[in-house]
Amino acid sequence: MYRLVFAVFKKMNPETAHHVGMAVIRFCGLPGVRQLVRQFTKPAPSEAVPAMGLSFASPVGVAAGFDKNAEGVMGLWALGFDHVEVGTVTPKPQSGNPAPRLFRLLQDRALINRMGFNNDGMVAVRRRLEKIRRLPIRPIVGVNIGKNRDTELSKAADDYRTLAAHFADVVDYMVINVSSPNTPGLRDLGTAKHLIPLVQAVLAEAGDVPVLVKISPDATDKQLSAVVKKLATLKIAGIITANTTTARQHLVTAPAELESIGDGGLSGHPLATRSQELTHLVRQLLPEDMLVIGVGGVESGWDVHRRQLAGATLVQLYTAFVYQGPGVARAIHRQLADIGS
Ligand SMILES: Cc1cc2nc3c(=O)[nH]c(=O)nc-3n(C[C@H](O)[C@H](O)[C@H](O)COP(=O)(O)O)c2cc1C
Repeated sequence: MYRLVFAVFKKMNPETAHHVGMAVIRFCGLPGVRQLVRQFTKPAPSEAVPAMGLSFASPVGVAAGFDKNAEGVMGLWALGFDHVEVGTVTPKPQSGNPAPRLFRLLQDRALINRMGFNNDGMVAVRRRLEKIRRLPIRPIVGVNIGKNRDTELSKAADDYRTLAAHFADVVDYMVINVSSPNTPGLRDLGTAKHLIPLVQAVLAEAGDVPVLVKISPDATDKQLSAVVKKLATLKIAGIITANTTTARQHLVTAPAELESIGDGGLSGHPLATRSQELTHLVRQLLPEDMLVIGVGGVESGWDVHRRQLAGATLVQLYTAFVYQGPGVARAIHRQLADIGS
């Protein structure tokens, strides 16, 4: 069925298709509709995972960027996702980079994006999260936070501190994003010199809310190991491996097409191997009480299982939703049940 829908979607501009998809997701999240839809998508009780002092009904969640403004949280839950990471949210609203800024690489089951943290800003997003928090049944909700484009790097910690204070009482966990390739200079904050004080600033505001750091797949293992070892000495809850990559190796898509698309972060199938490697690497470097969330190229229950074997407690996806549609979490739950039986 989604094959037919995707045949139409493929002809649409990818960002327009995302907006149409979000309208359907919002419909699925309406009271009455969501309970009904969830009957067909919910995971088996055996998938439940405790993590960060919370009970996740399954390891499968939605990665940051899909629901930047917390508009589709309940619809995504209805479709079988048990945690949703909203954002990246910045203090002030911002429109992001000029379009076109989202591209499909069909032969690679991948996307390239240079959205640039388009979002409604922390005040509007908080209002939506307050409503979700009051619901008796809802998924685990995290917020992924980032600096505004026009905030100088020397003042970036203030943006993150402000965001942490703003969201601490309305989310289940928080993620420091210093790994998106689409905000100039942001990845410089991922070096230990900048990152450690920034994380300390967030921890001071977050109270009891678990704080994670999302890392880039583009640093070398040596660079990442050095940063992760330092992060492991702080009171963070864990690390998310990983954000999109600026690398373009091993793609089927023709070099000329890649050239015409230009800069941006690559996600989806080609990211799977690096993300899996990083999950394994980071798991080995962290103490047992900190978790790894694996994200990047997860397309099936078998991928989820492989990430778990590499040490991920939870797993997220974005690009597979675009290629497989709203049934993706349901399919993953069925495959996990087959693997478990
Ligand atoms: C269009 C798009 C927008 C994204 N926006 C964000 C974002 O705002 N913040 C973030 O941390 N990651 C963002 N990501 C990265 C995803 O959260 C995820 O790390 C990455 O896409 C790899 O997972 P996937 O292969 O399942 O898509 C975005 C990805 C895509 C495709």
